Amino acid sequence: SSVTPDVRERTLIAVKPDGVQRRLVGEIIKRFERRGFKLVGMKMLQASEAVLGKHYHDLQRKPFYPALIRYMASGPVVAMVWEGHNVVRSSRLMVGETDSSQAKPGTVRGDLSVHISRNIIHASDSVEVAKKEIGLWFHSAELINWETSDHSDLYQ
Ligand code: PPS
Repeated sequence: SSVTPDVRERTLIAVKPDGVQRRLVGEIIKRFERRGFKLVGMKMLQASEAVLGKHYHDLQRKPFYPALIRYMASGPVVAMVWEGHNVVRSSRLMVGETDSSQAKPGTVRGDLSVHISRNIIHASDSVEVAKKEIGLWFHSAELINWETSDHSDLYQ
C-alpha cells in the first residue's frame, strides 16, 4: 500500500536439516528466485545449541522445545537472507502454515512435507523478528549488496 516500496526489506529463510537431507535446497531456492526476490546471503552450517537456543528463545517452555532443538541440530541447515518488496510477508505465504498437514498446496510445506515436526523450512514472521534473526545467523560482512549488472544482456 506504500507509495515507495521498501525493496530493501530482508528476511531469514533456513532450509532445516530434513530439507537438506531430502535434497530440497535447490527446489526452495528456485521458488524464491522465480518469485523475484534477491539472495543477499547464504551459508550451510551445523547450527550450534547456542544459536538455536537464542533463535527459539520464546519457545523454551513449549513441550516440543527439546525435540525441536534436537531436530534443528541433527544435521546441516542452509541459512539464507532474501531481499525484496514485502519479502517477509510474501515468504510466509510461500512457505505455508507451520503445521505442514494444514499447509495449502502450492506452498513449500504444502507441496513437500506432511508434519509440523519436519516442516523443512523456517521463515521470519515479522520485519522486526527478521532483523534479529539475520543478526543472529549472519555477520554483516556476509551480506552482499549487489546490483543487477549488464551481464544479464546475454540471458534475455
Ligand atoms: S507458536 O506455538 O505459535 O509459537 O508456534 P509457531 O510460531 O507456529 O512455531 C514456532 C516454531 O516452533 C515449531 N513448532 C513445532 N515443532 C515441533 N513440534 C511441534 N508441535 C511444533 N509446533 C511448532 C515451528 O515449526 C516453528 O519453527 P520455525 O523454525 O519458526 O518454523
